[in-house]
Amino acid sequence: MFSKKGLGLLAAALAAQTCSASANKARDEHATCKKTTVAILGGGMAGVAAAQALSNSSIHDFIIIEYRDTLGGRVAHTDFGKDPNGKPYTVELGANWVQGLGSPGGPENPIWTFAKKWDLNNTYSDYSSILTYNETGYVDYSSLLDDFEDLYDDAAEAAGVLLTENGQDQTARSGLALAGWRPKIDDMARQAVEWWEWDWEDAYSPDESSFIFGAAGENLTFNQFSDENNYVWDQRGYNRIIIKEASTFLKDNDPRVQLNSIITNVTYTDDGVVIYKKDGSCVSAAYAICTFSLGVLQNNAVSFSPSFPEWKQTAIEKFSMGTYTKIFLQFNETFWPRDTQYFLYADPVSRGYYPVWQSLSAPGFIPESNIIFVTVVSQESYRVERQSDEQTQKEVMAVLRKMYPDLDIPEPTAFMYPRWSTTPWAYGSYSNWPPSTTLEMHENLRANVNRLWFAGEATSAGYFGFLHGAWFEGRDAGERIAKLLGGKCASTDTSGTCGNRKHWEHLNGSTPLADYSAFDGWDVSSFYSSY
Ligand SMILES: Cc1cc2nc3c(=O)[nH]c(=O)nc-3n(C[C@H](O)[C@H](O)[C@H](O)COP(=O)(O)OP(=O)(O)OC[C@H]3O[C@@H](n4cnc5c(N)ncnc54)[C@H](O)[C@@H]3O)c2cc1C
Ligand SMILES: *[C@@H]1O[C@H](CO)[C@@H](O)[C@H](O)[C@H]1NC(C)=O
Ligand SMILES: *[C@@H]1O[C@H](CO)[C@@H](O)[C@H](O)[C@H]1NC(C)=O
Ligand SMILES: *[C@@H]1O[C@H](CO)[C@@H](O)[C@H](O)[C@H]1NC(C)=O
Ligand SMILES: *[C@@H]1O[C@H](CO)[C@@H](O)[C@H](O)[C@H]1NC(C)=O
Ligand SMILES: *[C@@H]1O[C@H](CO)[C@@H](O)[C@H](O)[C@H]1NC(C)=O
Ligand SMILES: *[C@@H]1O[C@H](CO)[C@@H](O)[C@H](O)[C@H]1NC(C)=O
Ligand SMILES: *[C@@H]1O[C@H](CO)[C@@H](O)[C@H](O)[C@H]1NC(C)=O
Repeated sequence: MFSKKGLGLLAAALAAQTCSASANKARDEHATCKKTTVAILGGGMAGVAAAQALSNSSIHDFIIIEYRDTLGGRVAHTDFGKDPNGKPYTVELGANWVQGLGSPGGPENPIWTFAKKWDLNNTYSDYSSILTYNETGYVDYSSLLDDFEDLYDDAAEAAGVLLTENGQDQTARSGLALAGWRPKIDDMARQAVEWWEWDWEDAYSPDESSFIFGAAGENLTFNQFSDENNYVWDQRGYNRIIIKEASTFLKDNDPRVQLNSIITNVTYTDDGVVIYKKDGSCVSAAYAICTFSLGVLQNNAVSFSPSFPEWKQTAIEKFSMGTYTKIFLQFNETFWPRDTQYFLYADPVSRGYYPVWQSLSAPGFIPESNIIFVTVVSQESYRVERQSDEQTQKEVMAVLRKMYPDLDIPEPTAFMYPRWSTTPWAYGSYSNWPPSTTLEMHENLRANVNRLWFAGEATSAGYFGFLHGAWFEGRDAGERIAKLLGGKCASTDTSGTCGNRKHWEHLNGSTPLADYSAFDGWDVSSFYSSY
């Protein structure tokens, strides 16, 4: 028999036992985590580039942890429709073009290098192969495209002056207006042209985009490499280049690649990082490189512990994640002009309502496919991604019938679109810089927090939004960590390409001129050559 007092003691003893048991359990769990030197969170372009950079520096002890069942991330494709033999076509849901190729003797876009190396089928996108429409059918307002482009060159120059004079950013809307581009609110042809020239690239309107960094980004890709965009239609999928490049340093079924692995929690300190997965397993690493999209970070899809310092969280919320939605249709015949690549539609009421149509039946693409697709972005993306396929198909078909009032257009034989805004491993398509941005704000997005590093499309100051931005950023994070591991840099050395990345606790309204030069020389021509 126990006295009451005895019961109390027993309870205390039991409690102590449970307590130390749970501490032991945590320690055991930690001890059972798979150990590695560098954990790479995400196997998209940035993750694969980071792993390759580590390999190149003879660091072979890394693990790539990837949500999906394949490498490639936002370079993602799916089956669609049927070819004449009944086999499905492959269409790209995410990245589509190699943007900016290269010029003889000049710098080359690394994605273009891969496209050639891995024999990717792609075709020059001819943006002058375009017909213009409105709600009454074909109407030629294509000369407005030249008007925009002439004024845009002046705007880009003015953005360059702002950049070097006082660093004070503004909306691309005001920058374009100062250069003379002022479309009236009810001038729907000009609104459609502006959408084609701006929103289609940035996934946001000029009102929602940084003037300085929008123009600088455009310069860095299209002035530095070339102004060409090649559309990838390879039936093996665009992510072939990522998988093939990975195969140069990974074995088949390499145990260092963990596919179908959903990361739920990450804890980080100055000593290392522990990554917890949905299946209950974990990885413990000396360093980690987080390549999640900005959308994943903004949606708290993964829990970070401790929570990010204010400067980091502010940067994550400051930048914008855009959505770009391609809506695919296959018909039993190609009823639209066969030799034309693009069709621009100006809706009489809504700017950005099913504006850009792209034919895969055009010469040089897949002529027998009878596939056409229309792209929407931003608010129109959210709207169509929230509604049913049936409703969207109805709206899209109504637009096509307005564009071709004399034709009897049948319903499509296949219809499909992805919902990027709610995809749990992306939460959007690609990032954009909002107005009134500074370089320091972006350095805070890019900076590491303790041993947790960040890389991806969004952390690229020069190439945000682009696949090549993801590649440069993955490489940079891998190289820097390799130098730290090799004792070649002190972590406190935040200058140049050594040590931790720089961050700012205190931000001011503009980028001080001196800091552009500190940022490895903010000269568009030498910006990345110094990386
Ligand atoms: C619709 C669309 C069109 C585009 N068009 C172009 C274009 O034409 N040209 C161009 O250059 N770029 C384009 N882009 C942008 C380009 O695709 C991206 O810049 C690039 O693919 C980003 O690579 P990344 O490695 O930074 O990120 P990601 O590819 O997103 O890689 C991050 C990886 O992290 C994984 N992940 C996320 N959450 C978790 C988790 N919880 N656990 C484990 N893993 C996780 C993801 O699955 C993903 O594989 C487009 C993108 C989209 C979506
Ligand atoms: C790794 O080295 C190879 C061979 O030199 C090179 O082609 C590749 O670009 C390098 N990768 C990275 C990420 O630096
Ligand atoms: C963009 O390029 C033009 C032409 O080279 C240049 O005059 C301008 O300064 C650049 N603008 C920015 C913001 O980099
Ligand atoms: C690549 O293009 C060639 C020539 O058009 C075609 O024959 C081949 O089937 C294509 N291959 C893939 C994988 O798309
Ligand atoms: C993971 O994060 C969730 C949500 O923040 C939290 O409830 C849970 O306790 C965390 N688990 C671990 C192992 O840290
Ligand atoms: C496509 O379908 C429409 C409507 O059913 C039909 O009138 C037309 O002849 C078909 N075209 C081809 C090439 O079969
Ligand atoms: C569409 O084009 C027709 C023919 O040029 C024109 O009469 C009509 O006003 C245009 N619609 C709008 C909304 O501008
Ligand atoms: C902003 O100004 C403060 C005070 O002058 C300074 O300490 C800080 O470094 C500045 N921040 C940036 C990003 O320049």
